[in-house]
Amino acid sequence: MTISESGRKQYRVKTYARRESRITPAQKKALTELLSLYELPLTDSPIRVSEVFPGTSRFAIEIGFGDGETLVHRAQQNKTTAYLGIEVYRPGVGKCLLRLHKNNVKNVRVSTNDARDVLLQQVPSNAVNEFIILFPDPWPKVRHRKRRLVNSEFVELCVDRLAIGGTILIVTDSSNYAHQVLEILEKNPNLDSMTPGQDAVGVQDKLRQTRYARKASQSGSQVFELLYTRSAYLSARNH
Ligand SMILES: C[S@@+](CC[C@H](N)C(=O)[O-])C[C@H]1O[C@@H](n2cnc3c(N)ncnc32)[C@H](O)[C@@H]1O
Repeated sequence: MTISESGRKQYRVKTYARRESRITPAQKKALTELLSLYELPLTDSPIRVSEVFPGTSRFAIEIGFGDGETLVHRAQQNKTTAYLGIEVYRPGVGKCLLRLHKNNVKNVRVSTNDARDVLLQQVPSNAVNEFIILFPDPWPKVRHRKRRLVNSEFVELCVDRLAIGGTILIVTDSSNYAHQVLEILEKNPNLDSMTPGQDAVGVQDKLRQTRYARKASQSGSQVFELLYTRSAYLSARNH
C-alpha cells in the first residue's frame, strides 16, 4: 500500500462524532490563550522531533486523548519523553490545555487535527516509540463500523511511523472492535504481540484511567488491551 496524497482521500469518512459541543468559558479561554503555547499546527512536512521537543529522548503519541488526563499524567511521569497528543474535540483540548498549564508541563505538544493527517504529513517514519489509543470511538452499529479509526490502513500507517521496538497500545471495551483490531494486528508481519492472552488482559493501571475507562468499569464492561511491538525484522514495506 502506498500512502500518497491520493491515498488520503480514501479515508475521508469521519472517525469522530463531533468536534464541538458545549464548551465552558474556561475551556474557551484556554483555547484562545493557551493553544498557541502548546499547539503543533498542521503542516505538510515531517517534524524534527528533537527540534520540536528539545531535551527529550523518546517520542510518544496519544491519539484521541479526550480531556488529556492520561496524557498529562504520563508526561509528568516521563519528563524525557516527548508527547504529542492528538484530539479533534475542542472542549477536550481546552481541558487538556488547562491541565498542561496548571502543572507547568513542558514535554507535550497538542494537535487539534485529524490524527490520520498528522501521522501522514508530520510524523516521520521509524520515529515513534509509543502509540497510545485509549477507547477509540467504538461505532457499535454495523453501518457505522467503517468509521472506526483503527483499521488496516491506519495500523499500516502507525507501523511505518513506529521505531523498531516501539509499541502500540489499543484499549477498548468493545469486544467486536477488539477482535477486529486483534485480527489486523496479528496479520501484520512487522508486529509482535506483547499481549499475554488472546483476549483481554485487563490490567487497569493508573496511567490508563480515563473518562471512558471509568465508564467501562462502572458498567462492568470487559476491557481489552492490545499491546504490540514493531519487530526488528522488516518485511516488505511500501512506504
Ligand atoms: C471515546 S473517546 C475516548 C477519549 C479518551 N481516550 C478516553 O478514554 O476518555 C474517543 C476520542 O477520539 C477522538 N478522535 C476520534 N477520531 C479521531 C481522529 N481521527 N483524530 C483525532 N482524534 C480523534 C474523539 O474526538 C474522541 O474524543
